[in-house]
Amino acid sequence: MDELSRRKMLLAGGALGALGALGSATPASARSAWNWAASGSVAGAGAPSDPQWVWDDEADQVLGAVIERGEVPRVNELLRTWTRNDQPLPAGLPEDLRQFMEKARQLPSWADQAKLGTAAKFNRTKGIYVGALYGLGSGLMSTAIPREARAVYYSKGGADMKDRISKTAKLGYDVGDLDAFQPRGEMIVTAVKTRMIHAAVRNLLPKSPGWAETSGGQKIPISQADVLVTWHSLPTFVMRKMREWKVRISPAESEAYLHVWQVTAHMLGVRDDFIPATWDAADAQSKQLLDPVLGRTPEGVKLTEVLLDIVAEIDGGLSRPLVSAFSRYTLGDRIGDMIGLSDEPLWEAAIATAWPLLVAFREGVIPLPLVPEAAWTIEEALRKFILVFLSEGKPIHLEIPDTNRPG
Ligand code: HEM
Repeated sequence: MDELSRRKMLLAGGALGALGALGSATPASARSAWNWAASGSVAGAGAPSDPQWVWDDEADQVLGAVIERGEVPRVNELLRTWTRNDQPLPAGLPEDLRQFMEKARQLPSWADQAKLGTAAKFNRTKGIYVGALYGLGSGLMSTAIPREARAVYYSKGGADMKDRISKTAKLGYDVGDLDAFQPRGEMIVTAVKTRMIHAAVRNLLPKSPGWAETSGGQKIPISQADVLVTWHSLPTFVMRKMREWKVRISPAESEAYLHVWQVTAHMLGVRDDFIPATWDAADAQSKQLLDPVLGRTPEGVKLTEVLLDIVAEIDGGLSRPLVSAFSRYTLGDRIGDMIGLSDEPLWEAAIATAWPLLVAFREGVIPLPLVPEAAWTIEEALRKFILVFLSEGKPIHLEIPDTNRPG
């Protein structure tokens, strides 16, 4: 297909599905047939469609048109001023984009402010676990998700990982903020911008030779199944680990933490009939979507190295072995090996002994004298890491890309 007809097809919106379907001749992933029941979704029902063949038609079409008209730099300039949930959209946006954004910024009818409030408090009290797990668990796990690693590597942001990490971490920070979805918060803005960035990437990456050669037959990146895979590497994984670590979580907190991520999935453009309604439904979906796709890719290994180098910059490399060991402890050796984490037997042994005791102390189960000295070194390193990772307080602007990674 020549470039012009390909673009026309992309711009045809619904055609994204058709194009993606062309990829079905080559299995894009090893996962089994989709049989997750929509009765377990927040919608409660739905046509039994496979999210592997669903993208985000409306967003993809509008962003395709904005790119085609060469309006991305102007739109990014205008959107820099749009930061708070309650702020009107800036004047001067292209009309089709403005209409899309007005719709996309509406919270779903099922969003429950009381639950969102409980989630915000939970994120604050359990911040050390949640922060460490997002950064050293989910963040590094993303490099073992082949489609994500490759999309990130070959997209514009792949060339400047430091910048990308702080931008991605903005979502982790905003979602856990006390005001996240409140008028004063920033999470609606962050989610809508992210949805638009993903839509831009769907229009751009198919033109990247590096991506096209490694996409395993997928013709359009970031399907709804892909977004759900990443989603499970975030809340589903984090909740599972916190339970394993015996962190005290009340049923209301557990439900609220799920809720804040359900709302986030909706705001990122995931269909309600794909969003799990309960942790059981989430675990079942995660088994079907996330577990089978984890794997080693050269791009993922390179990204892990870059990520750990960035961590090493915090203290001249001193805590790099500790961070590697903590990630291995969190993700397990299988994923640790996949992404090329170094083996740190001394630190790994220290963490395996000290971390459960530190958690037990923080959760009020054991008294202070039972916590070994090493636990505080680990906690201190994690705190430093979380602070840098979340770039707290720094203004960070998410920008729509209009090119792929150069070269
Ligand atoms: C950009 C979050 C799923 C690929 C972003 C950004 C955020 C984000 C906050 C903006 C950061 C930046 O501009 O650098 C999320 C969340 C996801 C998700 C919360 C799921 C719950 C995915 C998936 C893929 C993906 C499944 C690919 C398979 C990308 C790419 C960019 C991006 C390529 C753009 C980087 C660029 O500008 O070059 N995502 N993402 N994301 N995301 Fe995602």
